Amino acid sequence: MHGLDLEVREGEVVCLIGRNGAGKTSTVRAIVQDEIRVTRGSVEFMGKNLVNLPRREVIRSGIGYVPEDRRVFASLTIAENLSVPRSRGRSRIFDMDAVYELFLKLKELHGRQADVLSGGEQQMLSIARSLLTNPKLLILDEPHERLAPVVTQQVIAALIRLKSKGVAMLISDQHVPLIRECADCVDVIDRGHPVFCGTVAERDGNAEIARKYLMVTRHTPSESTHIT
Ligand SMILES: Nc1ncnc2c1ncn2[C@@H]1O[C@H](COP(=O)(O)OP(=O)(O)OP(=O)(O)O)[C@@H](O)[C@H]1O
Ligand SMILES: [Mg+2]
Repeated sequence: MHGLDLEVREGEVVCLIGRNGAGKTSTVRAIVQDEIRVTRGSVEFMGKNLVNLPRREVIRSGIGYVPEDRRVFASLTIAENLSVPRSRGRSRIFDMDAVYELFLKLKELHGRQADVLSGGEQQMLSIARSLLTNPKLLILDEPHERLAPVVTQQVIAALIRLKSKGVAMLISDQHVPLIRECADCVDVIDRGHPVFCGTVAERDGNAEIARKYLMVTRHTPSESTHIT
């Protein structure tokens, strides 16, 4: 990443977008110190420098992290997965009842082992688990990736409710409805460089950004989608 200057204010939702391979996951992982180390520059969260902290310390400082690969505990049930996190003295907006209310499907399936859940159910579980730490900032890496449309809608609905409860979010995702419904601001990156930062309306007004940087290729060129 080069010259990236990313800011998420309290209660704000910022979407980090860019083509495949642009560096979204790398950025997110550098922020939460997930195997990618920051060699220059700084990452600050509520006045605290996160660079070189172990990942568990980053999470403890009030950041929820939902990684691209979800990382639910495969051999544990939903209820057991959700009994792991602790919110360590912060406001307790999200307890078990609150996350079950947010994701009714998880309540329904609470005794089911995580490795037999669908991708969407695992995504809900991963989000629910990070919410139980009652984060001030939730970072989600491509939450809609590989989800069925109906599940994507449920995840978007949950993110909108989280936003209404004042949870700030940094969401790396290309999904246009998600961006439109959730984002206050968008940051566009390309090959590790920032190319645009502004509101969704400003991005909509910038035809060059849409044309040059937002071509998303999924597996085969014929499935390319142009984001407008
Ligand atoms: N462990 C690694 N070692 C070397 N290069 C890597 C590694 N992980 C990613 N890269 C490269 O870094 C660049 C950015 O990748 P990254 O996964 O951050 O992009 P992305 O925007 O999240 O892409 P996608 O939309 O496919 O998830 C790519 O060119 C990728 O090939
Ligand atoms: Mg990625």
